[in-house]
Amino acid sequence: MKLAVLGAGPGGYVAAIRAAQLGAEVTVIERDEVGGVCLNRGCIPTKTLIVSCELLAAARKSESFGIDISGKIVPNLSRILERKNKVVDTLVRGIVDIFRSHGIILKKGQGILTSARSMSVTAAAGEYEKIGFDRLIIATGSRPLEIPSFPFNSKRIISSDDALRINEIPKSLLIIGAGVIGCEYADIFNGLGSEVTIIEKLPRALPAEDAEISGLFERELKKKKIKLYTNVVVEKVDIMADGIRVVLPGGKEIAAEKALVSVGRDFNTNGIGIEEAGVAKGVCGEICVNDAMETNVPGIYAAGDVTGGIMLAHVASMQGIVAARNIMGGRERIDYTAVPSAIFTSPEIASVGLKEYEAAEKGIKVRTGHFPFRALGKAHALGEIDGMVKIVSDHLSDKVLGVHIIGPRSSDLIHEAALAVRKGLTTKDISETMHAHPTFSEALREAAEDVHGEAIHIIKR
Ligand code: NAI
Repeated sequence: MKLAVLGAGPGGYVAAIRAAQLGAEVTVIERDEVGGVCLNRGCIPTKTLIVSCELLAAARKSESFGIDISGKIVPNLSRILERKNKVVDTLVRGIVDIFRSHGIILKKGQGILTSARSMSVTAAAGEYEKIGFDRLIIATGSRPLEIPSFPFNSKRIISSDDALRINEIPKSLLIIGAGVIGCEYADIFNGLGSEVTIIEKLPRALPAEDAEISGLFERELKKKKIKLYTNVVVEKVDIMADGIRVVLPGGKEIAAEKALVSVGRDFNTNGIGIEEAGVAKGVCGEICVNDAMETNVPGIYAAGDVTGGIMLAHVASMQGIVAARNIMGGRERIDYTAVPSAIFTSPEIASVGLKEYEAAEKGIKVRTGHFPFRALGKAHALGEIDGMVKIVSDHLSDKVLGVHIIGPRSSDLIHEAALAVRKGLTTKDISETMHAHPTFSEALREAAEDVHGEAIHIIKR
């Protein structure tokens, strides 16, 4: 079976490896570095910056932990970016090595479909090649969505890609859109010393999260002196000699050195010849797939951001795996019942399953349990006491429907909850499972107990 995979992000490269493991003869076509946005301009590079910011904050409060540090503690942007590049390079090389070990052929260049079974590949140097295949996975990903009235210019109006390339920490930054990218960058630039303001068109920051979690997150923004304006749609950004300016509806002016626009993502479906192959697009330009990851054209599959839906790296990888297995004779369907999400702000936010309001919309009667991290010994020992765990469970069956966490290590804690949601476990299953002490995981057990008013470390209400 000759398989071509167009795009080597977490959707494409994972699909390629799985298909090769299952015996396919795989060629991957990638115009940039392997790893896609996730590895080169998204998840991984931002996490390296976040770690530098966390270290900076920890060093600044070291005195309260009994450690004296003398001298100035300041971020060095060029060295932070150097470390970021090193981490990215190591991981990119790792994927190339894995490809090689599986005999996966990597062709560097722009792939354009010429039919449902062939593609031209043009390398940066201009060499041209035509390749044929039996099956294809399109995993070309997404890019920052641009607002036509204030397009990116990489100097004053920047995208999340540009934000990783700046060579000076801006004194002030206006972020348009308080979604995942906006809030992660708000923390990064605030941590590095910029004065940050965020404008969001919906009523709250991280509007897709549980309302209580958003509320606690907004409190954290306030503590960090990050200004947030909600219910404001930015329609115009003025470019001045020394920066940008946005005028709010009441007439208030917000000026900043740069504006970072993070209002969603656009699909990479243009210029790849999907029309030639007859692949159908949806209303927003995404590639339409069914839950077996098949497009409308037999033998052509798609995975990852380019298919719309939940735009997360781990979702892309799972979709890629489903596509690869189906190509190699499987009959799998992607299962979205328990998709964990993690937002790498400080503190982190993670969730899985239903939010309380979603359960109400579906007419499901629920119970909730809460547990604050400040009631945990481990949290005090580490000096990370902000945040809480919230469990939403079915009133009758006690099944865990959703878990929402804001607080330390949320991105790791969420997977016990994901298993519970996926397997239909009850809050009793969680609370009756011993959790090691002292750990942050105890918060999940106590929140499960709180559903039944039985949390040990909460003062009786
Ligand atoms: P997003 O959809 O999460 O947030 C965009 C925000 O911008 C929304 O809250 C929207 O209401 C607001 N907005 C849109 N137009 C506006 C305007 N003109 N004025 C003011 N506000 C406006 O999109 P984002 O943050 O760009 O992220 C894109 C995708 O990448 C998401 O699907 C996200 O889940 C994913 N991602 C996930 C990460 C993670 O899981 N840690 C990290 C980074 C991205």
